[in-house]
Amino acid sequence: MNFLEEVLKKRRSVRKLSSGKIVSDERIKEIVEFVYTYSPSAFNAQEHRAVVLLNDSHKKFWDIVKEALKKIVTDSKIFEKTEEKLNGFYNGYGTILFFIDTETVKKLEKAFTNYKDFFTTWANHGEGIAQILLWILLENEGLGASIQHYNPIIDNEVKRVFDIPQTWELVAQMPFGKPNEELKDKTFLPIEQKVIIKQ
Ligand SMILES: Cc1cc2nc3c(=O)[nH]c(=O)nc-3n(C[C@H](O)[C@H](O)[C@H](O)COP(=O)(O)O)c2cc1C
Repeated sequence: MNFLEEVLKKRRSVRKLSSGKIVSDERIKEIVEFVYTYSPSAFNAQEHRAVVLLNDSHKKFWDIVKEALKKIVTDSKIFEKTEEKLNGFYNGYGTILFFIDTETVKKLEKAFTNYKDFFTTWANHGEGIAQILLWILLENEGLGASIQHYNPIIDNEVKRVFDIPQTWELVAQMPFGKPNEELKDKTFLPIEQKVIIKQ
């Protein structure tokens, strides 16, 4: 397979999803466990955590988001739009929650004081690496996915409902499912503005 053309170029944010089965739950589990085994982390600290929500858990999660936003978005016209966007995720197959284990980050800061100011940044870099790996791997299976950030307004309720350790900090969410939208073309800056090659 041509990885650049067939996988990297085809990855997009798919925000309107449906729940039709594209791959088995076992395959989803395998992909997530592979990423969380082999994805790199600074000092190999492995502070990244994931929770995979399927079926009722997935739906419960998007209900939590909707309830949290309802309290903030008081204009009913604007909330209608918000709800429409959220339904695109709710109607999907599952959601991956991304966390950083802050206890591990704190231990690193204590153990390696010269680098203490960088461990949170590096934890976030590692998160991004795990997220992009999952994004392209799920899309490679025929699923659609996107990255969302409804934290921190949902953090307490998510921890309570899904029994998440207090030291895990929610940093992103990835709803996925059967793609259910025609994507608009996106624009690209001239590559010379972004990449410099010196010989
Ligand atoms: C670090 C990062 C954060 C993002 N956060 C969100 C988000 O909170 N909600 C959302 O709908 N899309 C989010 N996106 C998706 C971007 O808007 C999207 O990747 C970009 O517009 C390019 O479109 P594409 O993903 O279809 O190629 C995020 C992307 C990145 C890389």
